[in-house]
Amino acid sequence: MGGKSVVLVGLMGAGKSSVGRRLAKHLGLDFVDADEEIVKAAGCSIEDIFELYGEEAFRDVEQRIIARLLRNGGHVLAIGGGAFMNPDIRAGILERCVSVWLRAELDVLVRRTARRGGRPLLKGGDPREILQDLMEERYPVYAEADIVVDTNDEPPEITVEQIIGALESEPGSAGTAGETGT
Ligand code: S3P
Repeated sequence: MGGKSVVLVGLMGAGKSSVGRRLAKHLGLDFVDADEEIVKAAGCSIEDIFELYGEEAFRDVEQRIIARLLRNGGHVLAIGGGAFMNPDIRAGILERCVSVWLRAELDVLVRRTARRGGRPLLKGGDPREILQDLMEERYPVYAEADIVVDTNDEPPEITVEQIIGALESEPGSAGTAGETGT
């Protein structure tokens, strides 16, 4: 990857962590989960950060942690679903990394997020409606990623193969696994 990080972008439940872990292994790189780094730095869970300090405080910490992670390149980095919406984070990623959007359909996201809690944004109402709204707001922005991979019910290994194919066809920049970002 020439020292560049591969950054996985996508909504909650898209499989960024499970795909990221496997992708890192294939590429011989370390896997870093930005949310886990935030939890380590804050010393409490993401739910607690939202509850005690609010979303704005979470976004501040998220920006600082991801800026640090982007400075030390060369890993596979999964970022929380909201991070790529921050223009500064997005610009840093587009400039220095290869970004991969794991695009998933609503039903898949609803099913997967129901299996694991700890997502404060889904607690304020009907998770399907919230995810639908987030898709409308975020998918046009996620489309700026270098590579777009559709990931639905296939095992994560298949998604990893698609990403590797795209990285090989355009190493270090845009590639295609069905479609390229704009
Ligand atoms: C968020 C997604 C979460 C986490 C936080 C906010 C979002 O990460 O960063 O709850 O705004 O979409 P995952 O996408 O890893 O679930």
